[in-house]
Amino acid sequence: MLDNHIEAALNAQIAMEAQSSHFYLAMATWADTTGLNGTSAFLYKHSDEERQHMLKLIRFVNERGGTARIPALEAPESTFSGLKAIFTTLLEHETRVTASINEVVDLCLSRKDYTTQNFMQWYVAEQIEEEALARTILDKLAMIGSDSAGLYLFDRDLGQLETEA
Ligand code: FEO
Repeated sequence: MLDNHIEAALNAQIAMEAQSSHFYLAMATWADTTGLNGTSAFLYKHSDEERQHMLKLIRFVNERGGTARIPALEAPESTFSGLKAIFTTLLEHETRVTASINEVVDLCLSRKDYTTQNFMQWYVAEQIEEEALARTILDKLAMIGSDSAGLYLFDRDLGQLETEA
């Protein structure tokens, strides 16, 4: 059985994952209408993954005797100045998600809820991967600069990454 504090923290995390999905959907649709088809495919998939992160939490809360709350979502920003802005924002957002997950883990330890703490380890590992991927993408963008042939290949490769995953 979840205690009230853990249940509230998990519900806050559900809201954060839902907002992340919404956020990446806005980025995906911007890329889709800007001719960046590979980038949009990557971001649509990323948005779907965030929804799966949300669902996994919802099911866990309900299975453990709590009540998952489905949150209201804020309208995300819908225009971006370019790829660097998108992936910088994405990395900043994921850094906040990591901090939030770490707080949930801290709370689990302080309240001796080792079951939830164990469940949250999946999210801890996922955040390492997500942050690393965002940093790799930003490094590539820094190398490319404003070279249009490089940007074309970057977009194509990002789309292929989506297909292969
Ligand atoms: Fe589910 Fe990207 O955090």
